[in-house]
Amino acid sequence: MATTAKATTKIDAIALLKADHRTVEGLFAKYEAATTRAQKRTLSTQICTELSIHTRLEEDIFYPACKGAVDAALHDEARVEHDAAKLMIAEIMRDSREDQFHDAKVMVLMEEIAHHVGEEERAGDGMFAQAKKGGLDLAALGTQMAAEKTRLTADYKANGLPMPDATTLVATSIGQLTPA
Ligand SMILES: [Fe+2]
Repeated sequence: MATTAKATTKIDAIALLKADHRTVEGLFAKYEAATTRAQKRTLSTQICTELSIHTRLEEDIFYPACKGAVDAALHDEARVEHDAAKLMIAEIMRDSREDQFHDAKVMVLMEEIAHHVGEEERAGDGMFAQAKKGGLDLAALGTQMAAEKTRLTADYKANGLPMPDATTLVATSIGQLTPA
């Protein structure tokens, strides 16, 4: 049965991002309750896909729009948190064989995301609260992000999920690091 959602559905940017947060929280809860490896694999793929799309929407559209309206330190912290999460996402995505740490990696990712979501949604001075106070055109951003979400979802479905790109880190592999 087709849903009633249409491409023209209006959703403001923060409502869209919050809805994404609730979706991912639901998937993490299902992962915690899953009992078979097959269920966990399916769920971890869904989690990585949702988070990959979500981080692109924020980094490509929402965060740039927030510049000037949101405290610069909070903005920078959010981007580094994204990249820390992407390291875990990349670990989970490349783990095609049995990995004794697979569950642990998904749980660490869940904790990272819970912290990050808390910082974005925190009442009063969180990123979303600051964006609202800053007078962003949330309706226009929401429309742009919904369209990009549709495009990315189709792209990833057709071409597979790309490895995430960490833009704030010196190296995406600890092995590439050398002491200063
Ligand atoms: Fe985020």
